[in-house]
Formats: sequence, structure tokens, C-alpha cells
Amino acid sequence: MALDMESFLKNFHKKNPGCTSVTWLHGKAADGRTSYECVSETLLKNTGPAAVLDLACGDGILLEILHNQNIPGLMLSGIDMSEGELEAAKKRLSGLPISIFEGRAQALPFENEKFDFIFCHLALMLMNEADTVLAEIYRTLKPQGYFSAIIGGGFMRSPIMETFTNILHQVMREEGAPRLTGVGDTRIRSAELVKPFFETLFAEVEVKELELSFRAKPVDLRDFFMLTYEVDMLSESGKEILEERVLHVLGAMTDSDGTIGFPFGLRQITCRK
Ligand SMILES: C[S@@+](CC[C@H](N)C(=O)[O-])C[C@H]1O[C@@H](n2cnc3c(N)ncnc32)[C@H](O)[C@@H]1O
Repeated sequence: MALDMESFLKNFHKKNPGCTSVTWLHGKAADGRTSYECVSETLLKNTGPAAVLDLACGDGILLEILHNQNIPGLMLSGIDMSEGELEAAKKRLSGLPISIFEGRAQALPFENEKFDFIFCHLALMLMNEADTVLAEIYRTLKPQGYFSAIIGGGFMRSPIMETFTNILHQVMREEGAPRLTGVGDTRIRSAELVKPFFETLFAEVEVKELELSFRAKPVDLRDFFMLTYEVDMLSESGKEILEERVLHVLGAMTDSDGTIGFPFGLRQITCRK
């Protein structure tokens, strides 16, 4: 039976609220920025007041970063479909003038032309009905408004990621665990198809590769890997076996300072209504 992706994601994020920010705040682009700073770069160049939506805001980290920029006249909103993440967002953003909504990207509960900027960090590639999502982003953006997304999808081969994926798939085979399939729309993850897909509605579509560098202790890296979606297809004992094997292999890849460095490839899409 096909997995209901939205239920899977809601369940995963209920168990692991804040799982994205704990990892991705550690990834740095060549100029030292995090991917949260990269996704919002169009706003940081802006001078006037602006209404901003963080689509699939998770635990609210990007909204907090934007609030801390002290940009005059900024009106910040976030939306996510995960109750667990929204609870974490409300805690993080408590007392700040930021509106948080529960809802799906496929049916945004906002009037037409409400936002000057819509950002989406590491979530667009998870969404099904991508045509509807794109139409909703377009509908709720003001004319000339910007949309920017950071997407992931295993765009870069690196020895550490390959090693982890091989061990994970080996444990999944041993357990007979099903692979995680049907996540999002293939056009969003495709280097060739993503630009024409956005160009069906948007102008000034720019797609660029974004390489982040991570450096972490093996135990932290293991925790990062254990928070990836496909690991959740394993039983608890499968997860324990995976943890052990991953830590063992990472130990052998550690540099003399006790840490491991590795690159991770993402993609950034920026466009204008
Ligand atoms: C990997 S997390 C990213 C969270 C946050 N943007 C960050 O980077 O810290 C993916 C988020 O997308 C949300 N999400 C996935 N599909 C969604 C949809 N169709 N509508 C609203 N939220 C969605 C999930 O609930 C989850 O919070």
C-alpha cells in the first residue's frame, strides 16, 4: 500500500520537532552563511517594509533569524502542517510579533497578494501536488514579490553520505523494511526540470547549487544521520543496529582533531512574480 506521505511527515515531526534546525544551522556556505541566511538573501537586500511568509516554517528558526535582523516594518508569518513543529515554533517565538498558522502549502489560508516575500527552507521537495503548491505561492505573493526555496535531495555524492546510505540500506534489507518512496514531486528535485517548472508561472527564475560544509564529532554526525526520514522506516532494534554500525564506521573516518568534515549539496531557487 502506498505510504500517505503527509501522515508520515506529521508523525515524524511530532516525534522529532526541531530536527531540521539542530542540524542545518551547522552547515556553512563558502562565505560562512547558513542555508537559512541564503534562502532569505532577497529580503536582506530589501530596504522597505515587507510582509514575509516562511512556508513550512518548522520550529520557527528562520523567522527568529529574520526577526533578529531588526529590519524596520517587517511583518513575519509562518505556516506549517505539523502540530509538533508549530508547538516548538510557538515556544521559540513566544512574545515576538510573529503570526503562526497551521495549514498545508496546497491550500494556503491567506488572501491573494498578501506577501512581498515567501521563503521555503528544505520543505518544497517534500510536497506532493507541486502544481497546486506553486499556484498557491503565486496567488499569495504581491506583484513583483519574491519566492526563494532551498531544496535538498542527495544532489552531491560524498564518501560520508554514501557510507551512511549504504549502511542504512543494508540494515533496511536485513529487516525487510520498505524504502521511502513517493516523497514530493520529481520536477522539484530535477536539475533539468525545476527551472522550466517555475517558469510556467514565475519570472527571473534563478537556480543555483549551494554547497555547505559540515564539521562535527562522530556522535553528533550519527545523531544528524539518525534524524533523516528514511531511518524512520526501521524498527527500534533496526535503528540501534544502524546507530552502532554508523558510529563504528565514522570512528575510522575521524580527523586527528576528533571531528569529521564533509560537504553537502543543496539547490537554491529564486524567482519573482
Ligand atoms: C525538513 S522540515 C523543514 C522545517 C524548516 N523549514 C527548517 O528548515 O528548519 C520540513 C517541514 O515541512 C513541513 N511540510 C511538509 N509538507 C508540507 C505541506 N504540504 N504543507 C505545510 N507544511 C509542510 C513539515 O511539517 C516540516 O515541518
